[in-house]
Amino acid sequence: MSDKKHGHVHHSKSTRDILNARNILKHAGLESGDKFLDAGCGDGFISFAASEIVKPDGEVYAVDVYPESIKTVEEEIAKLDIKNIKAEVADITEKIPLEDELIDLCVMANVLHGFVENGEVDPVMREITRVVKQGGAFGVVEFKKIEGPPGPPFKVRLAPQDVEDILAQYGWQVTKTAEVGEYHYLTLGIKK
Ligand SMILES: C[S@@+](CC[C@H](N)C(=O)[O-])C[C@H]1O[C@@H](n2cnc3c(N)ncnc32)[C@H](O)[C@@H]1O
Repeated sequence: MSDKKHGHVHHSKSTRDILNARNILKHAGLESGDKFLDAGCGDGFISFAASEIVKPDGEVYAVDVYPESIKTVEEEIAKLDIKNIKAEVADITEKIPLEDELIDLCVMANVLHGFVENGEVDPVMREITRVVKQGGAFGVVEFKKIEGPPGPPFKVRLAPQDVEDILAQYGWQVTKTAEVGEYHYLTLGIKK
């Protein structure tokens, strides 16, 4: 996907083949009844796994700037007759279309390194910090800082320490970094 507004070319390609969404959500502590945000959802494979875990009372919000991704998610929602996922086109460097302190857990998978490269971390972190409730969690999933493929070029990959520093800078308490697959790690922060 080529995105004129954002210098970095984000890949709309899914990592569903190399990442186990349920494993990520288990590490991030998602529970039944939670309100979950998939920030930069791509084809929504994490949202669909989350939908199973949060039901019957929880809600999943899947947002992506790329209309084709949201169309794909909406088609799958319709096909599977899912009632608890809301998918919406949104540029999270500008506004996440959710009220303050709504979300129990936000996961952002394979997206943060692009914002770092584009110098867009600040507006994104402000928005995520706004929509997650106090005591809620933010899980960042990134490719390990090793040579690919698969994944983005080595120079744009983030080390766990880079992610931990970003979370800490915005007032999050980093609780863990764990391996979540052959190529990925998850860093989890709690909103103080
Ligand atoms: C590498 S894909 C990852 C998709 C999915 N999270 C996954 O792990 O398969 C990066 C996603 O971030 C989305 N994205 C990039 N910039 C964004 C922005 N400013 N607001 C919302 N989504 C964005 C892209 O459209 C793309 O779907």
